[in-house]
Amino acid sequence: MRDIWESRTSFILASIGSAIGLGNIWRFPYVCYANGGGAFLIPYFVALLTAGIPIMILEFSLGHRISRPAPMALGSVKKEFEILGWFALLIGFGICTYYAVVMGWCFNYLGFSVNLAWGQNTESFFFNQFLKISDSPMQIGGVQWMIVLGLALTWICVIAAIWKGVKTVGKVVYFTVIIPWVILIVLVVRGITLPGALEGLRFYLTPQFSALLDYKVWLAAYSQVFFSLTIGFGVQITYASFLPKKADVVNNAFLVSFANNATSFLGGFAVFSVLGYYAHQTGLPVSEVVKSGPHLAFVTYPTIISMLPFAASIFGILFFLMLLTLGIDSAFSLVEAGAASVIDKFKLKRIHVNIGFGIIAGLVGIIYTTRSGLYWLDIVDYFMNNYGLLVVGILQCFAVGYFYSHKDVQNYVKEYPHDRSIFSIPAKIVGLRRYANSKSEFTVGAWWDFCVKYLTPIVVGILFITNIFDRIKSPYGGYSRWAEFLGGWLVIIVFIVVAVILYKKKGRE
Ligand code: TRP
Repeated sequence: MRDIWESRTSFILASIGSAIGLGNIWRFPYVCYANGGGAFLIPYFVALLTAGIPIMILEFSLGHRISRPAPMALGSVKKEFEILGWFALLIGFGICTYYAVVMGWCFNYLGFSVNLAWGQNTESFFFNQFLKISDSPMQIGGVQWMIVLGLALTWICVIAAIWKGVKTVGKVVYFTVIIPWVILIVLVVRGITLPGALEGLRFYLTPQFSALLDYKVWLAAYSQVFFSLTIGFGVQITYASFLPKKADVVNNAFLVSFANNATSFLGGFAVFSVLGYYAHQTGLPVSEVVKSGPHLAFVTYPTIISMLPFAASIFGILFFLMLLTLGIDSAFSLVEAGAASVIDKFKLKRIHVNIGFGIIAGLVGIIYTTRSGLYWLDIVDYFMNNYGLLVVGILQCFAVGYFYSHKDVQNYVKEYPHDRSIFSIPAKIVGLRRYANSKSEFTVGAWWDFCVKYLTPIVVGILFITNIFDRIKSPYGGYSRWAEFLGGWLVIIVFIVVAVILYKKKGRE
């Protein structure tokens, strides 16, 4: 007997929890600022409507229709696509290994918040004292034990959250979704009531329309949408496979996407209002105080927390608690998707899979706890999101868009023998759309087929190729070719090989 969600709310919260993560706070506001400010909302919405939501519907309906985790669900479309499912999970696994390390930093910073231990020079504290960062990726140096401890703590929490699969997940997500929302609202209120906040918000939202002409801005929007909704990782397919037969598909997809989007947008308010305050207090322009992801969360935010007029350490604790609860359900969604897939195919014991997963991922994560950790984190992050993820996105659309079986069409014909309209629509994917619509109050039209079959693969494909050309011109982020190869291409090659091995290995009935 397969597990199913206790209630619709459990499923929706789990799916939202997977989507909402560190990305909404430390990635979206920054990506938005760096890609045209308010104008970025245009490519972002376009990407959401043409790729995010359609693929979310695709993943929900495929998972629901086949009722098996991602590799098997894709494999049911055509046998070889199972490889794609495993590859998607592995890309997520790659992300998880460093994501958990960032959460390990959060655990440390939660402790530092109590007495604002980062002191006056938060930048030097983070890079020199806490990470003890080396000069280049190849200078690995020793591991930082406090970070290893944080990493271990994170994995213990993750494994506990998926202990009995969706049964436990369905309960845990009530806390891991609602707590960060409440904290986020508190932080937004605190932020916008500080002097200078409006200047920060103006900065966040003032559109620079010239940015729309830059293809990189569009790439950023599409990859942010994929990353943020956790689509293309096999997670949403797997979560949807645990739905009871009578569940809704399309509504849920819209609900999850908008909830995620609203959180990102609100996250921007929490971030930019305090940046405005920071600028106001120091006299620097806002443009000088905005920095990238980890810098924002672990240098800029702590600086601002120390400046707050009252209850500074309370806000520090709240901020890092928010990051932890935000991140944990993204991390365990992927682990659960991976565990459920392995259990489904190889019929292993859940307890062994859970613990095995935690140990392997934790050990891989050790590389990011070394003195060169941040460099590797940066390289792997970039490659997973800009190559791995986009490739899965394209291939998944291709697989379902062009190969989805006729079975549903045939069933439909049996059920409604007089409706000939189905034969006037050549696309096989129509079968899946009909299925999704039959399960939903709110139905989707042919635009959905169009997005899945043409628009998403073409746009993402163009973005992918232009990006490859960039990499041919120069290595990512000014790192050496060697580091780029090890942290980027090699990881992807290894994942392909492992995906093929998992596919070839015989499952147990
Ligand atoms: N959606 C998450 C966020 O916005 C990030 C994420 C995507 C993720 N895929 C993942 C995290 C896989 C861990 C594993 O932050």
